[in-house]
This record gives sequence, C-alpha cells and structure tokens, in this order.
Amino acid sequence: MNRRPRRNRKSEAIRNLVEETSLSVNDLIFPMFLLEGTGKKIEVDSMPDIYRFSIDTMLKEIESCLKLGIKTFDVFPAYPESLKDSMATESYNPETFYLKGLREIKKNFPELCLMSDVAMDPYSSDGHDGVVKDGKILNDETLEILGKMSLAQADAGVDIIGPSDMMDGRVGYIREMLDNQGFTETSIMSYTAKYASAFYGPFRDALDSAPKFGDKKTYQMNPANSQEALIEADLDLEEGADFLMVKPALAYLDIIKLLHDNYPVPIAAYNVSGEYSMVKAAAEKGWIDPERAMLEVLTSIRRSGAKVILTYFAKEFAEYRLK
Ligand code: PBG
Repeated sequence: MNRRPRRNRKSEAIRNLVEETSLSVNDLIFPMFLLEGTGKKIEVDSMPDIYRFSIDTMLKEIESCLKLGIKTFDVFPAYPESLKDSMATESYNPETFYLKGLREIKKNFPELCLMSDVAMDPYSSDGHDGVVKDGKILNDETLEILGKMSLAQADAGVDIIGPSDMMDGRVGYIREMLDNQGFTETSIMSYTAKYASAFYGPFRDALDSAPKFGDKKTYQMNPANSQEALIEADLDLEEGADFLMVKPALAYLDIIKLLHDNYPVPIAAYNVSGEYSMVKAAAEKGWIDPERAMLEVLTSIRRSGAKVILTYFAKEFAEYRLK
C-alpha cells in the first residue's frame, strides 16, 4: 500500500496539523431569554442549563460571557399572556421591558454585538409570526408591524436585526424603513431558510409562544425542500440582507452547504433548542458524552459552510475552551 490515510492520524500533533475546520468563540452567537422584572433566573424545563433572566441578572450573565470571549448575543423576550394581543402592539411600545432591556445591555456593554428577533409570536395572542385573520396568516399587513418593531429595536441600539417570521418581502421592507430613518448601519441577519420544524419545541416552552391553533407551515419551509432555499436566498440578498441564516442546523447541513456554495455573504446556522435539548437529554441518561457531542455538532455545522452559529452551547463551549 503506498496510500495509507492513517499516517495523517498517527498523533495529536499531526491530527491538529491537518485539521480543516476550526471553531472559535468568535463564530458563536449566544441566544438568551429576557423576562420582565428583577431578580429572576429561571431554568427552562426543557433546556437544562438555559435560563430566563430578568434584566439585572442578564447583565451579570452577559458580563461573565464577555469575560469568556463571547461577543455577540441574541436576546428574545418572554411576554406574559396579559401583554399579548392580535396585532403584537407591545412589540413597539418604547416603554416595553424588552426594548428597555436591549437599551440597558447596549449602555452597559457598548462593545458587544447585540442581535434581536423580529416576528410577532412572542407578543401575539394567536402565537403566530404574522397577523391572523379568519385562520389565515396575512403577509402584507404583517410587514407594517415588523417594520415598526425593527425600527424600535434599532432605536434601542441593536446591531443586527433578525427577522425570523418568514413573511415575503420583509427584508426589503425593513431595510427601507431603517434606511429612511437613518439606521443605515443596522445589519440584517435574515432567517432565510427557516423550516417548519419539530425542533423548536423547547424554545416555544421558554417563551410560551406556541401557536394557539394550527402550525406554521404556510410560512415556514417544508423540510422536504431544498430548491426553495435558493429562491429565498436570492430574494434576501437582493432585498439587502447582510447574513443568510439556515434554521435548524443539524438536519439541514445540506442547505447550509448549498447557500455557502452559492452566495458570497456570511452564512449563519441556528443550532436550535430541540437540537440542544436532544444532546442534553441523552447526556442526562448517560447515553452520550455531552462535551464530545457538543464539539462534534458545532464542528459539523462549521464544516458544512456556516461561518456563524447561533447556539445555546455558546457559554459551555467558551468554558470548555479555557479548560
Ligand atoms: C420566532 C422564533 C422561533 C425560534 C427563533 N425565533 C420559533 C418559531 O418559529 O416557532 C426558534 C429557536 C429555537 O428553537 O431555538 N419566530
């Protein structure tokens, strides 16, 4: 045999030398859940080691993450039912705890990169990402609300707006609205190929945001399709997106690669709640090694072409790196 691939695996030094994919805290975004009030830090039942914070405890958590080298945070709000309505009005109330919280975060840590989520579901009494009428999700009527929400978030100091709603035309609508108001530096990370997935379950527990009827299949993509991701990517890029995101990540590595190979912008992937909880649950049962599984998951997402990974493992990875 003159070809022996095992020669390049014979020691750790040589394995490191030929390693193609690197993973750094620089690549990671840490998603976090914000609650109204003070003094709260409540673990999400279906997401071990992930908490819902009030703003004071979240600031402390962010500070410790910054020390570990994490620089980008995506904050999601958990609203009580009493503040929800059919038009998600609370989402652009300047006095609402989410916008005030975003402001506080940016004021305390101006150097960090702050991302927010744009969609109606956390504020909607219907639990959908768009306006509901007669059991249907209205597209164009939703854009207006998403636009107001984005402006309010940009005004609160957000660096990257993350439209996760999957309405048609929303990236262009939001870009124009931001530019008209002088927020030309606010970036957009579009949830480009967001699939109607079973893996969002624990996130909806964290936010109490599950749809009150039906599912999200008329706006989120069919897991059976990949060609459609190219249409969504074309549109998002034309409409002004700075990043294209694929979500979930693990069951969609082919889609990450497809977008990476076809589009010259950074590709992001959302390693979603269900993907996180699967690893944690199996680890609790002693069925897999959580640290190795985490590294393998994150590395495979990077290998498939994602530059950026939104992951609940961000802090754990950063801590692991310092060990
Ligand atoms: C809201 C939104 C969802 C997630 C991010 N933004 C849930 C959904 O679309 O139902 C899921 C994130 C996760 O599961 O970690 N539009």
